[in-house]
Amino acid sequence: MTITNVVVAIAMEAEASPFVNHLNLQPDLSFFPSETPFRAFRGKHNNCHLTVITNGKDEVHGTGVDNVGTVPAATATFLALQKLKSDEPADLLINAGTCGGFQRKGAAIGDVFLTTAVANHDRRIAIPSFTPYGIGRIESTSVEKLAAHIDAKLGVCTTGNSLDFHELDSHHMLENDASVKDMEAAAIAWASEIWSTPHFGVKVVTDIVDGEKPSHEEFMENLGTAAEKLQSTLPKVIDYVCDKKHDEL
Ligand code: ADE
Repeated sequence: MTITNVVVAIAMEAEASPFVNHLNLQPDLSFFPSETPFRAFRGKHNNCHLTVITNGKDEVHGTGVDNVGTVPAATATFLALQKLKSDEPADLLINAGTCGGFQRKGAAIGDVFLTTAVANHDRRIAIPSFTPYGIGRIESTSVEKLAAHIDAKLGVCTTGNSLDFHELDSHHMLENDASVKDMEAAAIAWASEIWSTPHFGVKVVTDIVDGEKPSHEEFMENLGTAAEKLQSTLPKVIDYVCDKKHDEL
């Protein structure tokens, strides 16, 4: 089976807009239930149907910021894949966005990483039968040829609901053998698994987790450049995956 129907899940509007505009994707206001803040942008690129989904803005707390973190990410991904299932099921889900990178794993600002697996670092459950569930490691679909083609690095993405981290998170990020850290990947992978949709992440490094600067400062400094990098990388990813079989990635 070749890949012709791709969903790209991107948490933040600033990360998604350059790519959506570049491919001239159009808002589809009827894609998500009207009660949800989620947004969908759809169109065709070469032979591929594309649906970019974003998590929209926070109306629950009235802050108006992007709905980052695992809860909106899993919910939006679940609803998108459920919606497509009844029409033309998605062949592939790509989670694109920014991340923190670990310099001990060779990450530098602006690097593009493709995920080999995802796991959580903030779901500590000290009941032995629940511990692996808490970590929730999920393998990504294999994309080694794609990584070589676009000159991206490969590594595990560790997910948690905080931009910063504390001592215990640090320990679990190391245990997860993480190259990069984000706030959505493990949740998006979980929702993709529910619908048996192959998935992987494309993550651009905005800040160095094991460096000197506070994450939030470095993140804000580099968000614009990272969004541009995402915009130049994602079309190459889409061009490569479309019309290929999964084992050719
Ligand atoms: N997104 C970008 N940088 C991040 C970090 N350090 N942690 C979590 N998510 C991020």
